Amino acid sequence: MENIQNRALKVFPAGTSNGEYGLTEERIVVIEKGVGCHLWDTRGKEFLDFSMAWGSCLVGHAQPEVVEAVASQAPNGSNFAYLNSHVLALAEEIQRISPAAERIRFCASGTEATMYCLRLARALTNRPKILKFEGAYHGANETGVTSLFPQQAPDYPRPELTSAGTPAVSDYLLVAPYNNLAEARRIIFENKTELAGVIVEPLQRCTPPKPGFLEGIRETCTEAGVLLIFDEVVTGFRLAYGGAQEYYGVIPDLIAYGKALGGGYPIGAFGGRVDIMEWTNEHRIGTDDYVWMASTLGGNPISTTAANAALTVFRQPGTYENLHRLGAYLRDGMSKVLALRQINGQIIGDGPLAQVIFSADPVFDYRSTKKGDSVKARALMLALFDRGIFLNPMSTKLYISIAHDEAVCDGMLDRFDDALEEIA
Ligand SMILES: Cc1ncc(COP(=O)(O)O)c(C=O)c1O
Repeated sequence: MENIQNRALKVFPAGTSNGEYGLTEERIVVIEKGVGCHLWDTRGKEFLDFSMAWGSCLVGHAQPEVVEAVASQAPNGSNFAYLNSHVLALAEEIQRISPAAERIRFCASGTEATMYCLRLARALTNRPKILKFEGAYHGANETGVTSLFPQQAPDYPRPELTSAGTPAVSDYLLVAPYNNLAEARRIIFENKTELAGVIVEPLQRCTPPKPGFLEGIRETCTEAGVLLIFDEVVTGFRLAYGGAQEYYGVIPDLIAYGKALGGGYPIGAFGGRVDIMEWTNEHRIGTDDYVWMASTLGGNPISTTAANAALTVFRQPGTYENLHRLGAYLRDGMSKVLALRQINGQIIGDGPLAQVIFSADPVFDYRSTKKGDSVKARALMLALFDRGIFLNPMSTKLYISIAHDEAVCDGMLDRFDDALEEIA
């Protein structure tokens, strides 16, 4: 059989089917099976998974309730592109626990969910501009990928393109530093006649908000008459069952979900106040008050039955206490290893998230994160990969799931220590 690296490289740029791994060629593997927090490749090598499909498998791979739900729906059809009992129940549950989501619509990814939120903000305010925070990712749409990894540190609020092919974004995107309320307020008020919305990852990548930051942004948006959008694609159902809204106690005007909600199946959802979401009401087509929204796979019964099963699992008592306890266990363990080895570094994150930064300076925004030694961080990620830790060496955020436990984290900590020895 032809070697899999060659096959993958002949058909995929960088040998990757869906982007963003940046693994070296000789490390390319083909994953055959995932159960809980374990993966196996086609050569039988086992990995401890600390990516969990970029966080979308918070419930664990092949989680039995999710598998059963999908298996029972599959013979009855996979998509009707229309209302079905699973999507209805799921929407009711989201509405019950998400104060921002008075009305909801479904799509197939987080990228689409944030895109619709941005479009609605522009429609409702009749203004063109959006403010994002530097270093935030909101999906592969133009807003999401701009000022994502800026190299030049342009003056705020000027954006820097991260992707070629997106030049028009410079006309409508403003950028502010995360966790700097004064600067964000200044930019919002200076631009308020043109500004439709502010989009924020409540916990940006792996950097928690400073006390008062999200509350201050909420207050500023209300004062300026600008809509606040929470991108809860990562934080939703992860920091708490009610996501960042519950965890931080701040309610946006519009909200985007994805990832963990789908129990490992493709999903996106967005919601907002009734008056905002009414703009997507098709009875308005032909008027100036209509926002186009349509998704062939949105709300399909396979993804939504998986989501309902995942949410049932998440609602079991102790889920979030365990996720937070285990996240703290991992971060503390990694911090101790760094300290014992007298390495200049720190572990950031909250809940079931962790990231290594090779800098001892406080980390609170993109530019402070960037002070970390990124060459060393990549070397560490690759050394961990070689030791059977599955992760994305480009985005150094580690995800744990409800399938992880202390023994798995201990396995990670041993390999972390060993990997640091190798890269020293
Ligand atoms: C915060 C955030 N928003 C949006 C997205 C996009 O989600 P998707 O990849 O499902 O389009 C991601 C994906 O990583 C994300 O981390």
